[in-house]
Amino acid sequence: MNIAIAGTGYVGLCTGVCMAHTGHYVTCVDIDEQKINLMKSGKSPIFEEGLEELMTLNNERLTYTTDYINAYQNADIIFIGVGTPEKKDGSANLSYVYNVAKQIAHNVTKDCVVVVKSTVPIGTNDKIENFIKSELKKPVTIYVASNPEFLAQGTAIRDTLHASRIVIGVENQYSENILRQAYNGFKDIPIVVTNRRSAEMIKYASNDFLALKISYINEIANLCELIGADIQEVTNGMGYDERIGDKFLNAGIGYGGSCFPKDTKALHWLASFHDYEIKTIKAAIEVNEQQKFKLFKKSRKYYESLEGLTVAVLGLTFKPGTDDLREAPSLVNVPLFVDDGAIVKVWDPVGSEAFKNAMEREHNSELNEKVEYCDKIEETLKEADICFIFTEWPEIKALEPKDFNNMKDVIILDGRNCYDLNVFSGKNIKYESIGRSL
Ligand code: UGA
Repeated sequence: MNIAIAGTGYVGLCTGVCMAHTGHYVTCVDIDEQKINLMKSGKSPIFEEGLEELMTLNNERLTYTTDYINAYQNADIIFIGVGTPEKKDGSANLSYVYNVAKQIAHNVTKDCVVVVKSTVPIGTNDKIENFIKSELKKPVTIYVASNPEFLAQGTAIRDTLHASRIVIGVENQYSENILRQAYNGFKDIPIVVTNRRSAEMIKYASNDFLALKISYINEIANLCELIGADIQEVTNGMGYDERIGDKFLNAGIGYGGSCFPKDTKALHWLASFHDYEIKTIKAAIEVNEQQKFKLFKKSRKYYESLEGLTVAVLGLTFKPGTDDLREAPSLVNVPLFVDDGAIVKVWDPVGSEAFKNAMEREHNSELNEKVEYCDKIEETLKEADICFIFTEWPEIKALEPKDFNNMKDVIILDGRNCYDLNVFSGKNIKYESIGRSL
């Protein structure tokens, strides 16, 4: 099949590359010329394990272009994978999706199915189909289908090629057949066919359920600290119950990334738009906002303020395996440390550059100048009065007590439970984590 994909972010590019891997001819379209040139030279614009290798392997079936006119003219199927960022009021910004829809409507020359992969509010697919029909320039038949994406950053390729399920939301047999054909090479993955609105809802309900699970376990962890229980023992005991499951029960300093924060707010907004309050999700959002400051609050046990202290921060990205910083707890904490008077040294294996840019964008250069970006963990910890851990990178998890010896005072506040408690017991180390006590 000839497939066009609009948007070369995580969703668009990974889908395109995996579709090419199963034998389709894929044209990846983006408005960002720099990004397109980078991909033409065989490089991936995002840090994602296995992606660049698959780009090279399937090079002959992959085209990267800014020329959407040509791409949409010849496609049997067009995937929309552009972003739907959060608006100030919490609702999803659909302007990128509609821009693409308009470009498709103005340029298609044959019947085709437009597949919305972007996460969009329930009912959007219906509206996009009507919009495209009203904007068409040629007498062709266009159907819109919903096909939400469940990949996670850092494991995007594996999650696409070995997805837990493929959800297809359609209103007619023709669209279902075309999508089944597109996914023909994805073996042993259950295909769930629903109507368009249910497919859109499956995406939000799944992401929000996972966010809820994290906020719930974070609250249980907070309570564990107060009553002397250990969250890891608790989740281990809970996880044997198949109805609960043992995944996504890691307590920490809250979820970040481009999806959970945005999708929880979007569903909350959508509910209130329909005069309904989705209380569980509202609570998940609130708990997550507070959880991000958990370590900062813990630091008050040791110092009244961070004024004049050297603070080491290990890990900046919202999770390991990605260079993405969107909604990362580090982004709200580092400015807080600086405001509190600290000299902050940070380390991340891949996220420092993006962090620097985000700080410049969201705060100011003055604040950023007070942050020292280190190349090595050792250099970051040297002479530090306190260490905060925000991301469980393997390099951080591999640290041993002796690696912290060059700190002035060994106080470690671990927001991702990177170490076994017994590693630090009996040593002259003050170690705090989430939901556990030494
Ligand atoms: C998430 C979902 O997991 C994907 O299924 C979904 O397709 C994607 O959003 C999306 O909508 O595009 P992602 O944001 O890449 O994927 O990252 P996750 O691995 O889900 O982690 C999100 C956040 O939750 C991270 O900050 C992570 O540290 C945190 N988390 C995760 C916990 O605090 N505890 C856990 O047990 C698991």
